[in-house]
Amino acid sequence: MKTRIAILSDNCVDNHNTRAEHGLAFWIETEDQCLLFDTGQGLVLEDNAQVLDLDLDAVDTVVLSHGHYDHTGGLPALLHRTGGDIRIIAHPAAFRPKYKRADAGTRYIGIPPASLEVLLGLSNPPVSTPLPLEVAPGIWSTGEIPRTHPEETSTEGFCTDVQGVDDDPLLDDQAVFFDTSQGIVVLLGCAHAGLINTLDHVRRLAQGRPIHAVLGGTHLRSASPSRLAWTLEELKFFSLQRVVAMHCTGPQATAALWNAFPGICSPGGTGMSFDFE
Ligand SMILES: [Fe+2]
Ligand SMILES: [Fe+2]
Repeated sequence: MKTRIAILSDNCVDNHNTRAEHGLAFWIETEDQCLLFDTGQGLVLEDNAQVLDLDLDAVDTVVLSHGHYDHTGGLPALLHRTGGDIRIIAHPAAFRPKYKRADAGTRYIGIPPASLEVLLGLSNPPVSTPLPLEVAPGIWSTGEIPRTHPEETSTEGFCTDVQGVDDDPLLDDQAVFFDTSQGIVVLLGCAHAGLINTLDHVRRLAQGRPIHAVLGGTHLRSASPSRLAWTLEELKFFSLQRVVAMHCTGPQATAALWNAFPGICSPGGTGMSFDFE
């Protein structure tokens, strides 16, 4: 199945006519359908789509990786264009309040109020499920990702209340994947569930098909040196042919991945596109 992926939102720029933001959004185009995986925080989605000649009006499905603002803030602009006639797919926990502990109290980092408002006005309510789902023919969301590796357990100051008392395990975190002639391609949002936990889960869902490529945020930006080293070692078992490190990977982990997987890992940026079949 021919599938085109384009990066509409990322922290870095690749095509210099596009713009960056702290966010992530993938364009997914098959022969029959156009989908988005996340929407960025909404500062660049429309402009970048225009520069890349991608018609947001044609999007009929949005899969949300999780409920953070930098993945959901582009919903109002998108839904304004599509008239709300669109299917939104997310884990139920994506719609819950989300905060991050900061120096003085907490900061709200959940779905922005404007995005919540347009979600409430949808003609069809969001598909809210913790289970894997075939979101379009051959395109799957992973659903909730089992946390099997204790090395990847970290809440990093994420919490569910404004007082900052209750940790947010971010159970909503999910990825998207599809099969190609070369193997499975995985798109990550932030990989809050852990990169290796995510790839293990995809491999189980894909019934042993090799994983060919991984694109997206790995949330290794604030990983300890020991966790980063462990991740690099575990990644070797997947024999990946392509890794595109984006968003919350951070420069240090991107460099570590680049050095550990020369010729395979490279940084991503807005305007990049990839054709798979
Ligand atoms: Fe996040
Ligand atoms: Fe993020």
